[in-house]
Amino acid sequence: MSNRRPKVRRRLSLVHLHRMKIENDLILRAARGEETERVPVWVMRQAGRVLSEYRATRAQAGSFKNLLMNPQLAAEVTIQPVDILGVDAAILFSDILVIPEAMGLPYRMDEGKGPSFENTIQSQADVDKLSTEQVLDNLKYVFDAITTVKYHLQNRVPLIGFAGAPWTIFCYMVEGRGSKTFSMSRSMLSENPELAHRLLRKITDATIVYLKQQIACGCNMVQLFDSWAGILNKDTYNTFALPYIKEICLAIDTVPMTVFAKGAFFSMEEMGQLPCRTLGIDWHTSPEFARQMAGPDKTLQGNLDPAILYGSEEFVISETKRMLDRFGSHKYIANLGHGVYPDINHEKLKLFIQTVQAHQFNRS
Ligand code: CP3
Repeated sequence: MSNRRPKVRRRLSLVHLHRMKIENDLILRAARGEETERVPVWVMRQAGRVLSEYRATRAQAGSFKNLLMNPQLAAEVTIQPVDILGVDAAILFSDILVIPEAMGLPYRMDEGKGPSFENTIQSQADVDKLSTEQVLDNLKYVFDAITTVKYHLQNRVPLIGFAGAPWTIFCYMVEGRGSKTFSMSRSMLSENPELAHRLLRKITDATIVYLKQQIACGCNMVQLFDSWAGILNKDTYNTFALPYIKEICLAIDTVPMTVFAKGAFFSMEEMGQLPCRTLGIDWHTSPEFARQMAGPDKTLQGNLDPAILYGSEEFVISETKRMLDRFGSHKYIANLGHGVYPDINHEKLKLFIQTVQAHQFNRS
């Protein structure tokens, strides 16, 4: 573990920790819509990417996948941003692609190239071969990482669990890699909608058991990442993505759930009806529009353009403050509008976090 972490005199056992309150529970309270003394903040992709400490642990592991499958090291990089950046929550170091792998489609993560799958889903027979039964057994390393994080975190801040939303996982399973147009995935929706629904159904079932087990192991809230929401249109998003997200939200009824659908401003009103607590907002969507479309009940999370962190200190501070004033102090969790970029200076990220934590709202 990082030696910057304050010394904990007596470590509490997992049984104790599960029963006790989280010391800094600002994010959980904001997600539940309660008043908070200040706006809480965490950063998508805070675990990994910008910290040299992350790169050192990754080098020790040898590869991204080795790191992810080693509970001790995965726990270490999960906790690093809490110690070094001072964020108000930890997010589990893992990846959304562990679900396709656990269902029978292994992936590779090649340096500089991103993820790729050797086998993809093209036919009914391919879908039938996918198994949802082995998911918990195959992902034991994730659950071991969660219990290791919980033990070392000692309830200082909440732990966020996550999964990819069914549509985004579908894209990787059909395409086999990232893509600009996701033509194969989108053409399946037009050519063979039944097959698409069959695949989405299986992914949804696997995701529900996966998230429930993350929560059973100690995750205090969970987020669904729908990174490729924005390549669909309103009709296809409402037909092929939202019903499955809704099903997951209904199944996860013990901890607050966040739905982050990047680029799906067109379905913001429908997302306002989802049975989840929080909606993630990307930087294309204005705070005012998000609030108006999502309604007064949802907590909103976001949405600073990560590219602002390339700017000067003054610029980072003024843009962060402007974002805070636009969202307001209530039912709000500060974050970037998508994951932090790997070449952003971590001092700028820290400045963003500290600016949020020190901000005084004009309450007149
Ligand atoms: O937020 C966090 O810090 C927790 C860890 C986390 C990772 N991936 C670690 C990771 C989370 C929440 C994810 C989610 C994820 N993974 C998404 C959804 C969020 C988003 O950014 O839209 C997606 C689409 C993936 C798939 C994925 N994983 C891609 C496309 C890539 C390669 C390019 C990239 O983003 O760096 C990854 C690799 C990956 N996942 C890295 C990390 C830290 C980089 C690996 C490395 O080189 O160390």
